[in-house]
Amino acid sequence: MAFDVEAVRAEFPILQRQVNGHPLVYLDSAASAQKPEAVISAMSRAMETSYANVHRGLHTLANETTEAFEQARASVARFIGADTDEVVFTKGATEAINLVAAGLGAGLKAGDEILLTQMEHHANIVPWHFLRERLGVVLRFAPVTETGELDLAAMGQMMGPRTKVVAFSHMSNVLGTVNPAAEIIGMAKAAGALTLVDGCQAVVHQVVDVKALDADFYVFSGHKLYGPTGIGVLYGKRERLAELPPYQGGGEMIATVTEDAITYADSPHRFEAGTPAIIEAIGLGAAIEWLSGLDRGGYRRPRGGPLRPGSRPALRRQLVADHRRGAGQGRDPVLHHGGGARPRCGPDPGSLRGRCPRRRPLRRAADASVWRHLQRPGLLWPLQHRG
Ligand SMILES: Cc1ncc(COP(=O)(O)O)c(C=O)c1O
Repeated sequence: MAFDVEAVRAEFPILQRQVNGHPLVYLDSAASAQKPEAVISAMSRAMETSYANVHRGLHTLANETTEAFEQARASVARFIGADTDEVVFTKGATEAINLVAAGLGAGLKAGDEILLTQMEHHANIVPWHFLRERLGVVLRFAPVTETGELDLAAMGQMMGPRTKVVAFSHMSNVLGTVNPAAEIIGMAKAAGALTLVDGCQAVVHQVVDVKALDADFYVFSGHKLYGPTGIGVLYGKRERLAELPPYQGGGEMIATVTEDAITYADSPHRFEAGTPAIIEAIGLGAAIEWLSGLDRGGYRRPRGGPLRPGSRPALRRQLVADHRRGAGQGRDPVLHHGGGARPRCGPDPGSLRGRCPRRRPLRRAADASVWRHLQRPGLLWPLQHRG
């Protein structure tokens, strides 16, 4: 079915409102996407018709809610090509990366290397810094080329016998660069390293198949995928999750507890201590079902032809240059929001107030996030104006 921009816009109640007297145009989806009616009503329905705690009650509502919660897990698993027991619900991508870093840290020692890239979000930097501080592991950062691509040759040369983990973003939230995840994972495997892919942005834009990628871990957040906040996903290969120690202790993650011993439940429950974000998981399941019903290839194409990259390489080049200048002045060398030089000019303020974003201001915008946002279905009409 062809992608119908107006029909999709109509599914977002918030896009009916006005801001400063103009129809709302929302350009911040990469930070957090707005919610379609399908998600809002699935969450309300769950609270209105069948709500209880999961996995512990024996009454009707408990059974129904548990069933809905586990169906949401099954939706996630189908969406990324995983098995259901390989899908762990977390608070978000940040918690998922912390969980993996803390777990893998138990097997690392001083001098072991963790290879990241210069285009990571803080969520995929700071948890590894914890290991540097606590264990003395060494963090290395694969460089980014002038045009904002990962320097794969350099990255390959940085992988060696000391490399234990390679953790990288599938799609940069700063540059919009899509990294060749399968190739990087292949290189990491050849070096004997485990891989973690931060799929926060990529999972929204592409069909992700974690088995085809052969990633050990793949993480993303629900709220960027048109689902609610407070829910995210850690995919882990079954055998990897089995090796990982539990992250938090509490109810639901144990098999047995006595005064002097505990045994743990199997994955995914081993990593879901306490009452999970039940309604949010149901909302994420609804978001995934909703998104899966769209022509996900179609929304990337402007009317009547393939998506032309336009001046994106130029924007990336500008952003990288700005950040390099920032790094030279003692700022953080890693590309991320707010850490380097400020973009020369941001999104056209007119567009934020609901006027048609014209080609020129957008072309001039050095803020790559504008381009990122333009790829999102909830705000598609600006894309139609790009010719
Ligand atoms: C690439 C990437 N990774 C990780 C995160 C962190 O996601 P969250 O704050 O939902 O945990 C973000 C959020 O912007 C992101 O864009």
